[in-house]
Amino acid sequence: MSEFTVTETKANHVKIFDTTLRDGEQSPGASMSLGEKLQVAEILDGMGVDVIEAGFPIASNGDFEAVSEVAKTVKNAVVCGLARAGAKDIDRAAEAIVHAKRPRIHTFISTSPVHMKYKLQMEPDAVYEAVIASVTRARNHTDDVEWSAEDGTRTDFDFLCRCTEAAIKAGATTINIPDTVGYSVPEEYYALFQSLMERVPGADTVTFSTHCHNDLGMAVANSLAGVNAGARQIECTINGIGERAGNAALEEIVMAIKTRGDKLPYWTSIDSTYLTRASKLVSAVTSFPVQYNKAIVGKNAFAHESGIHQDGMLKHTETYEIMTPESVGVAATSLVMGKHSGRHAFREKLKELGYEMGDNAFADAFKRFKALADKKKHVYDEDIEALVDDEIGTADDGIKVMALTVIAGSMGPQMATLTLDIDGEHRTVQAMGNGPVDATFNAIKEMVPHDAKLQLYQVHAVTEGTDAQAEVSVKLEENGKTVIGRGADPDTLVSSARAYVHALNKLITKRERTKPEALKAG
Ligand code: KIV
Ligand code: ZN
Repeated sequence: MSEFTVTETKANHVKIFDTTLRDGEQSPGASMSLGEKLQVAEILDGMGVDVIEAGFPIASNGDFEAVSEVAKTVKNAVVCGLARAGAKDIDRAAEAIVHAKRPRIHTFISTSPVHMKYKLQMEPDAVYEAVIASVTRARNHTDDVEWSAEDGTRTDFDFLCRCTEAAIKAGATTINIPDTVGYSVPEEYYALFQSLMERVPGADTVTFSTHCHNDLGMAVANSLAGVNAGARQIECTINGIGERAGNAALEEIVMAIKTRGDKLPYWTSIDSTYLTRASKLVSAVTSFPVQYNKAIVGKNAFAHESGIHQDGMLKHTETYEIMTPESVGVAATSLVMGKHSGRHAFREKLKELGYEMGDNAFADAFKRFKALADKKKHVYDEDIEALVDDEIGTADDGIKVMALTVIAGSMGPQMATLTLDIDGEHRTVQAMGNGPVDATFNAIKEMVPHDAKLQLYQVHAVTEGTDAQAEVSVKLEENGKTVIGRGADPDTLVSSARAYVHALNKLITKRERTKPEALKAG
């Protein structure tokens, strides 16, 4: 396959800074629960991400707690908390990352004329002073400090040089120049880094970083242009999620560098076989579907439909494949297990799919696998992933779906009889509705009264065939906060009930955990 061997030196190593849990989570509707953030952080750490930006600690108590828990659990990566230039932000970020093995504070301020005038309402000199004060304060907490010039690509070049020089003098170890609004083109971004590194005293003592948004679809190209000019850190997210059109996609950056070593003579520490699983996990916890033709991780990224292509592939895979599906973690075959598969085979399969489970969680997952295999002839990898993700997501829920019977069809009225376990107590109600899903949700509302609004109800077939599991996502909104619940089962109505109850559980936890404030960074 067309992979080039690059001599791996310190000078050509590109650090991967993942901001799925911060910039990614900021995209409307992508909020994740604490447990989901920990799951994502674990896989990022496992795949070899250099820096995990875990959140924006001052934004809310929930964000603080998430950064703090990620900091405690991550084993290898640097864990970073974001802070604006103010003292309170920086101190809160420092508090959140205090238990990290390798803590970093990332502080930022806008430097472009439009942001300084309208957003900050500050004069450039005051911004310049704030750069010095913020980096100095962050350095008093930790040696690893990143400074970002928000809207850097629309900043006056002389002012950008002044602020960058000040940040380096104050002790910043990484300098990030974001293309906050996704406006740049590759040549321009390249030239910006090149000029900055030539002009700013001390530039050779720090790592320069790219941070590109995808408003014009050039986030990945711009990031790589920045690296060609000398940047050695790329900020990116799984599936490219993030504000508006998103951030540069981690999987695209990693595979571009890995596949085109001839033109991009760099290397990253990422084990690319994790990419597919990470993509699926982030898609599942955010309920953001991955477009079928998405590079690297889309369902069709390695599918060959036309006769000519299939013929070529059968003769030699390199005719139409520039990387192997295995290199990004797509299993060679996904037909796996059935009702005769035992515990040992199931445990091996979980290991192969990247799941590590304690004995109790394993026993529960195995029970559900057996029940599924009784209903479904072929159990595919995707089925097991959906089942286990569902199990992990709902393990600690106070409300659980125990039984559901639904009367549906053209004769009406549609009616659901539902039994829930609410904190250990079983309750059953019957409710009618405008269709079986509505009846099921009405039954839940009767047992757990709430005012949350249903914002999204989405069904997705995990595999092909009419016996496929249905994976349902439900988004609920209450006082501006949204939560997403998921459920998987061969019965669409059971998945719907599980997804709604999962969301409700999260909402209840979130109510207890967070205060109403929610800040956003660019
Ligand atoms: O896009 C941006 O400028 C940001 C900064 C906070 C780094 O996300
Ligand atoms: Zn951003």
